[in-house]
Amino acid sequence: MTRIGTSDLDVLPLSLGGNVFGWTADRERSFAILDAFHAGGGDFVDTADAYSAWVPGNSGGESETIIGEWLASRRPSGVVVATKVSQHPDFKGLSAANVRAAAEASLSRLGVESIDLYYAHFDDASVPLEETVAAFGQLVTDGLVRYTAVSNYSAERIREWVRIAEAEGLPKPVAIQPHYNLVHRNEVEETIVPVAREYGMSLVPYYALASGFLTGKYRSASAEGQDSPRAEGAAKYATAQGLRVIDALESIGSAHDASIAATALAWLRAQPTVAAPIASASRVEQVADLLTGARLELTADELAELGRVSEWTPAGA
Ligand SMILES: NC(=O)c1ccc[n+]([C@@H]2O[C@H](COP(=O)([O-])OP(=O)(O)OC[C@H]3O[C@@H](n4cnc5c(N)ncnc54)[C@H](OP(=O)(O)O)[C@@H]3O)[C@@H](O)[C@H]2O)c1
Repeated sequence: MTRIGTSDLDVLPLSLGGNVFGWTADRERSFAILDAFHAGGGDFVDTADAYSAWVPGNSGGESETIIGEWLASRRPSGVVVATKVSQHPDFKGLSAANVRAAAEASLSRLGVESIDLYYAHFDDASVPLEETVAAFGQLVTDGLVRYTAVSNYSAERIREWVRIAEAEGLPKPVAIQPHYNLVHRNEVEETIVPVAREYGMSLVPYYALASGFLTGKYRSASAEGQDSPRAEGAAKYATAQGLRVIDALESIGSAHDASIAATALAWLRAQPTVAAPIASASRVEQVADLLTGARLELTADELAELGRVSEWTPAGA
């Protein structure tokens, strides 16, 4: 188990991504994925109020509704649910009134008394940060939310959030959700990891599998033959360097009888300040790799080799 930042939330270190629920996984398949994840020891689920508003016919909230119905039907104990505010078509941005209304709507869809981990999904520069930080603090005071967190924030804005929270005696974020994986390292390692270290926050990185590229199923940039709305976003990583990363994952994974996907997740899990990578599964068969990724221990040499093949040059070096 891993603890998220300074919270008392202990989870298996792999969060199940919820943006497929109500999109590439219908209700029945989503239930099967959640069942398999939970049966395998998974207890941390990531969603957002906006998922999956981009799908024709959807209006946002579909993922939370499915998760809420699954929670009501299975009544699992100890499942930690994270959700986010600012992108739902009816609840845009991070004004105090919107944060409150969006949180209440999320609670109702999820059917829970409080949200375990509540993220500001994207920074909203049109609202004074003081107002947003106070609104998040009020949710904690009123028991609607247990812990707060930020996603897609710059290091500078996270520092500003913490400064305001400390000055006003409000709760500080316990987690940061950035885009981070073996083929997308630079910005996070240069700027976000130092902030997380400084304030004892955990990273809960998204796109942990680079939308499927880090499973090894995209060997060329054409995405041909892959029937997934994620294919284009994933296949773009099939550069010479990206494919060297896949080869290294394959050879290191084979020493553990583990897949490329599980090995990629194990690398991410082992990086400084990372508590739990987020990865989604659009089919039940994909869940086993995610669970293996939560438990597989790579050796120091293996981690170093993966670090080397995916190397980048820090700014100013
Ligand atoms: N905070 C943010 O702004 C933000 C942004 C994006 C995502 N997220 C969160 O992060 C989660 C993960 O993002 P993501 O789903 O886009 O990317 P991802 O986790 O990098 O990729 C997951 C996709 O890879 C494929 N896959 C998974 N396991 C596999 C396996 N064992 N074998 C073969 N293919 C496998 C599936 O896609 P196919 O259906 O194509 O096979 C799956 O949907 C989201 O659900 C969401 O909760 C947050």
